[in-house]
Amino acid sequence: MNQSLVIESLKKSFGDFKAVDGIDFYVEEGKFFSILGPSGCGKTTLLRMIAGFLEPSSGSIRICGDEMIGISPNKRPVNLVFQNLALFPMMDVGENIAFGLKRQNFSKKEIEEKVKNILEKVHLTGYERKNVSNLSGGQKQRVAIARSLVLEPSILLLDEPLGALDLKLREQMKIELKKLQNEFGTTFIYITHDQSEALVMSDKVAVMNNGKFEQIDTPKNLYANPKTSFVANFVGETNKFEAKLIDDAGVVKTKEGIDFRVNLIDKNIKKDCFVFIRPEAIVMMVEGNMEDMNYFDLSIKTILFDGSNTKVLATLNDTEHEIMVSLPQNRKFAHIKEGEVISAGVHISDCKCYE
Ligand SMILES: Nc1ncnc2c1ncn2[C@@H]1O[C@H](COP(=O)(O)OP(=O)(O)OP(=O)(O)O)[C@@H](O)[C@H]1O
Ligand SMILES: [Mg+2]
Repeated sequence: MNQSLVIESLKKSFGDFKAVDGIDFYVEEGKFFSILGPSGCGKTTLLRMIAGFLEPSSGSIRICGDEMIGISPNKRPVNLVFQNLALFPMMDVGENIAFGLKRQNFSKKEIEEKVKNILEKVHLTGYERKNVSNLSGGQKQRVAIARSLVLEPSILLLDEPLGALDLKLREQMKIELKKLQNEFGTTFIYITHDQSEALVMSDKVAVMNNGKFEQIDTPKNLYANPKTSFVANFVGETNKFEAKLIDDAGVVKTKEGIDFRVNLIDKNIKKDCFVFIRPEAIVMMVEGNMEDMNYFDLSIKTILFDGSNTKVLATLNDTEHEIMVSLPQNRKFAHIKEGEVISAGVHISDCKCYE
């Protein structure tokens, strides 16, 4: 597999502040790669260096084998889709898409042909002469992407392109973007702070925090095997406990006083630690005494009905610590009521413990 992008020891400081603090990664050709992290962690700074709008303090950026440091943005085989789309409001759809092509001196006929083809691919056939300001949010989004893809970049960089859309439309566009990327086979580098976007669309996700990548992995692995406390907390819903290690073999006591046998992910925990348990890892109504499980009582406080995603808020044993538990899609649990106390358990391997 060829590598579209290889980044080595990339850094960017603004004065004393390290916005991007030593990043290494590569992206294989045709893959959907996301960079996921909280606001201010350095995502846009990283993307602007790849696009060539910002000079790195040090490090290397190779695109399709060629070093890009010192190469101006318009000479790089990349294109950037901005969060605010930056369409030209005075131009129609066709003119917006043709803009970049005109600057590359294609003939009028070639441009017409390319615009028509790309509109078909983004499901906007016949929209050439429509004014962009009359389009819906999702349609504008597709025009912005068509305008970039028509230039056939090796890499398309997308900086939170769904940020401006409402929730419902974002859900739709997530699926559509993934399909588009598949059809075009262009390498996508997608920035977001929304973990669900990253998980749904990507082949690989890099989780970024304070200018560094904490983990680069498949969505499935990120969710199932977070390597750091930050990743465990940031990716996917989870229940977090502050705890102290009371037995080096892997027993902790939570701040509320509950003992758990845990899966020690960090091997060098001294005493203070965090335990993370996914809502779906908690098994309700279990009796018995399996070696590899922790058992406790759940007092149901609130049922958060959300169709197939229904959850309950419950407290553990006689503590006040609330946790979130997924309600399995099983009629056995349909009668669960607030105020009930239910026996429950969780596998030791699902109680992940970090420094
Ligand atoms: N030109 C600049 N001068 C000084 N500081 C900057 C500059 N550009 C960015 N920063 C700082 O670098 C940090 C990273 O900014 P960046 O825009 O990369 O974050 P981000 O991860 O894209 O955040 P968001 O999700 O909010 O867009 C921030 O603390 C920001 O204030
Ligand atoms: Mg940003």
